[in-house]
Amino acid sequence: MATRAIGIDIGGTGIKGALVDLDTGELLSDRIKKPTPAGGEPDAIVQVASGLVDELVDELVAELAPAQEAVPVGVCFPAVVLGGTTMSAANVSKKWIGLAAERLFESAMRRDIHFVNDADAAGVAEIRYGAAKGARGVVILTTLGTGIGTALINDGVLVPNTELGHIEIDGKDAESEAAYSAKERHDWSWEQWVKRLQRYYSRLETLFSPDLFIVGGGVSKHYEEFLPLLELRAPIIPATLRNNAGILGAAALTNPAFATSEEPADGRGHSTGRTPRGR
Ligand code: BGC
Repeated sequence: MATRAIGIDIGGTGIKGALVDLDTGELLSDRIKKPTPAGGEPDAIVQVASGLVDELVDELVAELAPAQEAVPVGVCFPAVVLGGTTMSAANVSKKWIGLAAERLFESAMRRDIHFVNDADAAGVAEIRYGAAKGARGVVILTTLGTGIGTALINDGVLVPNTELGHIEIDGKDAESEAAYSAKERHDWSWEQWVKRLQRYYSRLETLFSPDLFIVGGGVSKHYEEFLPLLELRAPIIPATLRNNAGILGAAALTNPAFATSEEPADGRGHSTGRTPRGR
Protein backbone atom coordinates (compact mmCIF):
# COMPACT_ATOMS: atom_id res chain seq x y z
CA MET A 1 0.00 0.00 0.00
CA ALA A 2 1.21 3.50 -0.82
CA THR A 3 2.77 5.48 1.99
CA ARG A 4 2.47 8.70 0.04
CA ALA A 5 -0.78 10.38 -0.88
CA ILE A 6 -2.08 13.71 -2.08
CA GLY A 7 -4.43 15.52 0.30
CA ILE A 8 -6.80 18.22 -0.94
CA ASP A 9 -8.64 20.40 1.59
CA ILE A 10 -11.60 22.36 0.22
CA GLY A 11 -12.80 25.26 2.35
CA GLY A 12 -15.11 28.22 2.01
CA THR A 13 -12.22 30.59 1.22
CA GLY A 14 -9.33 28.43 -0.02
CA ILE A 15 -8.55 25.10 -1.68
CA LYS A 16 -5.23 23.67 -0.52
CA GLY A 17 -3.26 20.61 -1.46
CA ALA A 18 0.07 18.86 -0.99
CA LEU A 19 1.78 15.50 -1.23
CA VAL A 20 2.02 13.83 2.18
CA ASP A 21 4.35 11.22 3.68
CA LEU A 22 1.83 9.07 5.54
CA ASP A 23 4.50 7.57 7.82
CA THR A 24 5.65 10.87 9.25
CA GLY A 25 2.79 13.27 8.46
CA GLU A 26 5.24 15.59 6.72
CA LEU A 27 4.52 17.46 3.51
CA LEU A 28 6.71 16.19 0.66
CA SER A 29 5.79 19.06 -1.66
CA ASP A 30 5.05 22.74 -1.31
CA ARG A 31 1.51 23.43 -0.16
CA ILE A 32 -0.43 24.85 -3.10
CA LYS A 33 -3.34 27.14 -2.29
CA LYS A 34 -5.96 28.62 -4.64
CA PRO A 35 -8.92 30.81 -3.72
CA THR A 36 -12.29 29.06 -3.58
CA PRO A 37 -14.30 30.35 -6.56
CA ALA A 38 -16.91 32.90 -5.44
CA GLY A 39 -20.28 31.32 -4.73
CA GLY A 40 -18.75 27.90 -4.02
CA GLU A 41 -20.47 26.30 -7.04
CA PRO A 42 -19.75 22.60 -7.70
CA ASP A 43 -18.29 22.84 -11.24
CA ALA A 44 -15.96 25.70 -10.35
CA ILE A 45 -14.69 24.02 -7.17
CA VAL A 46 -14.18 20.66 -8.91
CA GLN A 47 -12.17 22.38 -11.65
CA VAL A 48 -9.84 24.17 -9.22
CA ALA A 49 -9.35 21.02 -7.11
CA SER A 50 -8.55 18.82 -10.10
CA GLY A 51 -6.13 21.45 -11.48
CA LEU A 52 -4.38 21.32 -8.14
CA VAL A 53 -4.06 17.51 -8.31
CA ASP A 54 -2.62 17.80 -11.84
CA GLU A 55 -0.01 20.29 -10.62
CA LEU A 56 1.02 18.04 -7.75
CA VAL A 57 1.16 14.91 -9.93
CA ASP A 58 3.27 16.72 -12.55
CA GLU A 59 5.69 17.77 -9.85
CA LEU A 60 5.84 14.20 -8.56
CA VAL A 61 6.37 12.57 -11.90
CA ALA A 62 9.09 15.07 -12.74
CA GLU A 63 10.92 14.79 -9.43
CA LEU A 64 10.32 11.27 -8.23
CA ALA A 65 9.28 8.28 -10.30
CA PRO A 66 6.74 7.93 -13.11
CA ALA A 67 5.05 5.18 -11.08
CA GLN A 68 3.98 7.89 -8.65
CA GLU A 69 1.39 8.95 -11.19
CA ALA A 70 -0.94 6.49 -9.46
CA VAL A 71 -0.52 8.20 -6.08
CA PRO A 72 -3.80 8.04 -4.08
CA VAL A 73 -5.80 11.24 -3.63
CA GLY A 74 -7.93 12.17 -0.60
CA VAL A 75 -10.28 15.14 -0.72
CA CYS A 76 -12.03 16.75 2.27
CA PHE A 77 -15.01 19.08 2.05
CA PRO A 78 -17.08 21.22 4.49
CA ALA A 79 -20.28 19.15 4.35
CA VAL A 80 -21.80 15.88 5.51
CA VAL A 81 -20.51 13.18 3.15
CA LEU A 82 -22.55 9.98 2.86
CA GLY A 83 -21.45 7.34 0.37
CA GLY A 84 -19.74 10.01 -1.73
CA THR A 85 -22.78 12.31 -1.77
CA THR A 86 -22.64 15.73 -0.10
CA MET A 87 -25.73 16.04 2.08
CA SER A 88 -25.38 19.59 3.43
CA ALA A 89 -23.88 22.94 2.45
CA ALA A 90 -23.46 25.38 5.33
CA ASN A 91 -20.84 27.68 3.76
CA VAL A 92 -20.81 26.68 0.07
CA SER A 93 -23.44 26.74 -2.70
CA LYS A 94 -26.67 24.89 -1.85
CA LYS A 95 -26.20 23.00 -5.13
CA TRP A 96 -23.94 20.61 -3.20
CA ILE A 97 -26.90 19.20 -1.25
CA GLY A 98 -27.67 15.74 -2.60
CA LEU A 99 -24.88 15.90 -5.19
CA ALA A 100 -22.83 12.79 -6.09
CA ALA A 101 -19.74 14.87 -5.40
CA GLU A 102 -17.18 12.08 -5.11
CA ARG A 103 -18.05 10.93 -8.64
CA LEU A 104 -17.73 14.48 -9.97
CA PHE A 105 -14.25 14.83 -8.46
CA GLU A 106 -13.26 11.37 -9.68
CA SER A 107 -14.22 12.04 -13.27
CA ALA A 108 -12.45 15.44 -13.29
CA MET A 109 -9.36 13.98 -11.60
CA ARG A 110 -9.44 10.80 -13.74
CA ARG A 111 -8.83 8.55 -10.73
CA ASP A 112 -10.54 7.09 -7.66
CA ILE A 113 -10.42 9.37 -4.64
CA HIS A 114 -11.28 9.12 -0.95
CA PHE A 115 -13.85 11.79 -0.05
CA VAL A 116 -14.62 12.93 3.52
CA ASN A 117 -15.86 15.78 5.69
CA ASP A 118 -13.16 18.40 6.45
CA ALA A 119 -13.37 18.26 10.25
CA ASP A 120 -13.30 14.45 10.18
CA ALA A 121 -10.08 14.64 8.16
CA ALA A 122 -8.59 17.17 10.60
CA GLY A 123 -9.51 15.00 13.58
CA VAL A 124 -7.87 11.92 12.11
CA ALA A 125 -4.74 13.96 11.36
CA GLU A 126 -4.49 15.34 14.91
CA ILE A 127 -4.69 11.91 16.51
CA ARG A 128 -2.38 10.34 13.94
CA TYR A 129 0.29 13.07 13.68
CA GLY A 130 -0.65 16.02 15.91
CA ALA A 131 -1.90 17.23 19.28
CA ALA A 132 -3.47 13.95 20.37
CA LYS A 133 -1.08 11.50 18.77
CA GLY A 134 -2.11 8.00 19.82
CA ALA A 135 -4.82 9.28 22.21
CA ARG A 136 -7.21 6.68 23.57
CA GLY A 137 -10.80 7.14 24.72
CA VAL A 138 -13.24 9.69 23.35
CA VAL A 139 -11.65 12.68 21.64
CA ILE A 140 -13.68 15.56 20.19
CA LEU A 141 -11.92 17.88 17.78
CA THR A 142 -13.67 21.16 17.03
CA THR A 143 -12.54 23.56 14.32
CA LEU A 144 -13.53 27.14 15.08
CA GLY A 145 -13.71 29.08 11.82
CA THR A 146 -16.51 30.36 9.60
CA GLY A 147 -18.53 27.51 11.06
CA ILE A 148 -17.75 24.84 13.65
CA GLY A 149 -16.60 21.48 12.35
CA THR A 150 -16.37 18.47 14.65
CA ALA A 151 -14.73 15.05 14.64
CA LEU A 152 -15.70 12.42 17.21
CA ILE A 153 -13.06 9.75 17.66
CA ASN A 154 -13.12 6.77 20.01
CA ASP A 155 -9.92 4.80 20.60
CA GLY A 156 -8.54 6.18 17.35
CA VAL A 157 -11.61 5.28 15.31
CA LEU A 158 -13.65 8.07 13.73
CA VAL A 159 -17.44 8.30 13.96
CA PRO A 160 -18.00 10.30 10.75
CA ASN A 161 -20.25 13.30 10.06
CA THR A 162 -21.06 14.30 13.62
CA GLU A 163 -21.92 17.96 12.77
CA LEU A 164 -21.86 18.99 16.43
CA GLY A 165 -21.36 22.60 15.36
CA HIS A 166 -25.07 22.64 14.65
CA ILE A 167 -26.43 21.54 18.03
CA GLU A 168 -29.05 23.95 19.30
CA ILE A 169 -28.23 26.21 22.24
CA ASP A 170 -30.84 28.74 23.44
CA GLY A 171 -32.79 28.14 20.25
CA LYS A 172 -29.81 28.99 18.04
CA ASP A 173 -27.45 27.01 15.85
CA ALA A 174 -24.34 26.73 18.07
CA GLU A 175 -21.92 27.77 15.32
CA SER A 176 -23.78 31.08 14.86
CA GLU A 177 -22.59 32.12 18.36
CA ALA A 178 -19.47 30.07 19.08
CA ALA A 179 -17.65 29.95 15.71
CA TYR A 180 -14.72 32.35 15.37
CA SER A 181 -16.70 34.20 12.68
CA ALA A 182 -19.28 35.15 15.36
CA LYS A 183 -16.54 36.79 17.46
CA GLU A 184 -15.43 38.77 14.43
CA ARG A 185 -18.92 39.64 13.26
CA HIS A 186 -19.95 41.00 16.67
CA ASP A 187 -16.52 42.40 17.46
CA TRP A 188 -16.58 40.49 20.78
CA SER A 189 -13.64 40.58 23.18
CA TRP A 190 -12.04 37.23 24.05
CA GLU A 191 -14.01 37.24 27.33
CA GLN A 192 -17.31 37.89 25.56
CA TRP A 193 -16.62 35.09 23.10
CA VAL A 194 -15.49 32.73 25.88
CA LYS A 195 -18.94 33.00 27.49
CA ARG A 196 -20.40 31.46 24.31
CA LEU A 197 -17.59 28.92 24.04
CA GLN A 198 -18.16 27.88 27.66
CA ARG A 199 -21.83 27.14 27.01
CA TYR A 200 -20.92 25.24 23.86
CA TYR A 201 -18.16 23.06 25.30
CA SER A 202 -20.11 22.45 28.54
CA ARG A 203 -23.00 21.15 26.45
CA LEU A 204 -20.70 18.86 24.46
CA GLU A 205 -19.18 17.63 27.71
CA THR A 206 -22.61 16.83 29.16
CA LEU A 207 -23.62 14.95 26.02
CA PHE A 208 -20.43 13.01 25.26
CA SER A 209 -18.18 12.93 28.36
CA PRO A 210 -15.05 13.13 26.22
CA ASP A 211 -11.56 12.41 27.56
CA LEU A 212 -10.07 15.21 25.52
CA PHE A 213 -11.09 18.24 23.46
CA ILE A 214 -8.83 19.52 20.67
CA VAL A 215 -9.43 22.99 19.28
CA GLY A 216 -8.41 23.72 15.70
CA GLY A 217 -9.10 26.39 13.11
CA GLY A 218 -6.97 29.48 12.46
CA VAL A 219 -7.85 31.01 15.84
CA SER A 220 -6.22 28.10 17.69
CA LYS A 221 -2.87 29.85 17.27
CA HIS A 222 -4.21 32.39 19.83
CA TYR A 223 -5.27 29.60 22.19
CA GLU A 224 -3.66 31.28 25.20
CA GLU A 225 -6.27 34.04 24.96
CA PHE A 226 -9.25 31.75 25.42
CA LEU A 227 -8.55 28.10 26.27
CA PRO A 228 -7.28 28.82 29.84
CA LEU A 229 -10.55 30.69 30.53
CA LEU A 230 -12.72 27.63 29.90
CA GLU A 231 -13.81 25.47 32.82
CA LEU A 232 -14.30 21.86 31.81
CA ARG A 233 -13.65 18.46 33.32
CA ALA A 234 -11.81 17.19 30.25
CA PRO A 235 -8.51 18.74 29.15
CA ILE A 236 -8.90 21.12 26.22
CA ILE A 237 -5.80 21.63 24.08
CA PRO A 238 -4.94 23.44 20.83
CA ALA A 239 -4.53 21.53 17.58
CA THR A 240 -0.94 21.51 16.36
CA LEU A 241 -1.24 20.85 12.63
CA ARG A 242 -2.85 24.23 11.96
CA ASN A 243 -3.77 24.69 8.33
CA ASN A 244 -2.35 21.35 7.23
CA ALA A 245 -4.70 19.16 9.29
CA GLY A 246 -7.29 18.74 6.51
CA ILE A 247 -4.63 17.92 3.90
CA LEU A 248 -2.92 15.40 6.19
CA GLY A 249 -6.15 13.70 7.25
CA ALA A 250 -7.57 13.51 3.72
CA ALA A 251 -4.30 11.94 2.57
CA ALA A 252 -4.14 9.50 5.54
CA LEU A 253 -7.71 8.34 4.99
CA THR A 254 -6.79 7.02 1.50
CA ASN A 255 -4.94 4.19 3.20
CA PRO A 256 -6.83 2.12 5.81
CA ALA A 257 -3.55 1.41 7.61
CA PHE A 258 -3.17 5.13 8.37
CA ALA A 259 -6.82 5.98 8.94
CA THR A 260 -6.75 5.47 12.72
CA SER A 261 -4.26 6.20 15.48
CA GLU A 262 -3.29 2.51 15.60
CA GLU A 263 0.12 1.40 14.36
CA PRO A 264 -0.07 0.26 10.74
CA ALA A 265 -0.11 -3.53 10.42
CA ASP A 266 3.55 -3.72 9.38
CA GLY A 267 4.72 -1.80 12.43
CA ARG A 268 5.37 1.51 10.69
CA GLY A 269 3.92 4.65 12.16
CA HIS A 270 4.34 6.84 15.16
CA SER A 271 1.47 6.24 17.52
CA THR A 272 2.63 6.63 21.10
CA GLY A 273 -0.09 4.41 22.54
CA ARG A 274 -2.03 5.55 25.59
CA THR A 275 -1.56 9.17 26.59
CA PRO A 276 -1.95 10.34 30.19
CA ARG A 277 -5.14 12.02 29.01
CA GLY A 278 -6.61 8.78 27.70
CA ARG A 279 -8.77 6.44 29.72
C1 BGC B 1 -20.38 22.29 8.26
C2 BGC B 1 -19.48 21.10 8.54
C3 BGC B 1 -18.01 21.53 8.42
C4 BGC B 1 -17.74 22.74 9.26
C5 BGC B 1 -16.31 23.25 9.12
C6 BGC B 1 -20.00 23.43 9.18
O1 BGC B 1 -20.82 24.54 8.95
O2 BGC B 1 -21.74 21.95 8.48
O3 BGC B 1 -19.74 20.05 7.65
O4 BGC B 1 -17.21 20.46 8.84
O5 BGC B 1 -18.64 23.79 8.95
O6 BGC B 1 -16.01 23.56 7.81
